[in-house]
Amino acid sequence: MGLRNGPESFGLVSRLFHWLMAILVLSLIALGLRLSSMEPGLSNLWLYGLHKTLGLTALGLVLLRILWHLISPPPGPMATGWERLFIKAWHWTLYALMIATPIAGWAGSSASGIDTLYAETFVVPPLVEADETSEFVWFILHEIFAKTLLGMVIIHMLAALRRGMAGDGTLTRMLRGKA
Ligand code: HEM
Ligand code: HEM
Repeated sequence: MGLRNGPESFGLVSRLFHWLMAILVLSLIALGLRLSSMEPGLSNLWLYGLHKTLGLTALGLVLLRILWHLISPPPGPMATGWERLFIKAWHWTLYALMIATPIAGWAGSSASGIDTLYAETFVVPPLVEADETSEFVWFILHEIFAKTLLGMVIIHMLAALRRGMAGDGTLTRMLRGKA
C-alpha cells in the first residue's frame, strides 16, 4: 500500500491526515461554539482545557501535513482550467485558516494571563503579553477565522459529496487512494 502520493493518487499518509484532521476540526468547532455560550468556571474549566489541547494538536498536525506535502506533493484537483485553480485556492485557504484559527486562539488565551496547558500537564509558552484589549481582539479574530473555516468546510463537503455522486473519482481517491 503506497504511503506516498502519486501524480493521480492520494497516499495513505495524506489520507490519514485528511480524515483525522476533518474529525478534529469539526469537533473543535462544535466544542468552541458550546464554550462561547458558557461562563468559564471551575466546573467547565476542563472543557476549555480539552479545546485548547485538541486545538494545539490540530496546529501541530497541519504543520506536519504541509511538511509532508512538500516531501510528497498531493495530486491536485481533478478539474481543469479555471475550476482547477479555484479549487486549489480554496484548499490553500482552508490550510491558511487551519493555521490562523489555532494561533489566534493561542494568542487570545495567552493575552488572558492564564497559563495555557497542553494535556493538563505542559505549560505552553505565551504568544503575547497579558492584556485585556488584545485578549478581546484575538478572540474576535479566532471567532471570525473559525466561522469562516466552518462555512468553507460545509461548501467543501457538499462539493465533495456532489462529485462523489457524479462518480468522477474525487471522493474515491480520498477514501481509497486511487480514482
Ligand atoms: C483548528 C483549531 C481551532 C478551532 C477550529 C477552534 C474553534 C473555535 C470556535 C468555533 C469557538 C467559538 C467562537 C465564538 O463563537 O466565540 C472557539 C472558542 C474558543 N477557543 Fe478555539 N478553536 C481552535 C483552536 C483553539 C486553540 C489552539 C485555543 C487555545 C490554545 C483555543 C481557545 C479557545 C477559547 C478559550 C475559546 C472560548 C472563547 C470565548 O469564551 O468566547 N481554540 N474556538
Ligand atoms: C465529510 C467531510 C469531508 C469530505 C467528504 C471531504 C472530501 C475531500 C475530498 C474528496 C478531497 C480531495 C479533493 C481532490 O481530489 O483534490 C478533499 C481534500 C481536502 N480536504 Fe476535505 N473532506 C471533508 C472534510 C474536510 C474538513 C473538515 C477539512 C478541514 C478543513 C478538509 C480539508 C481538506 C483539504 C485542505 C483538502 C486538500 C488536500 C490536498 O490536496 O492538500 N476536508 N476533501
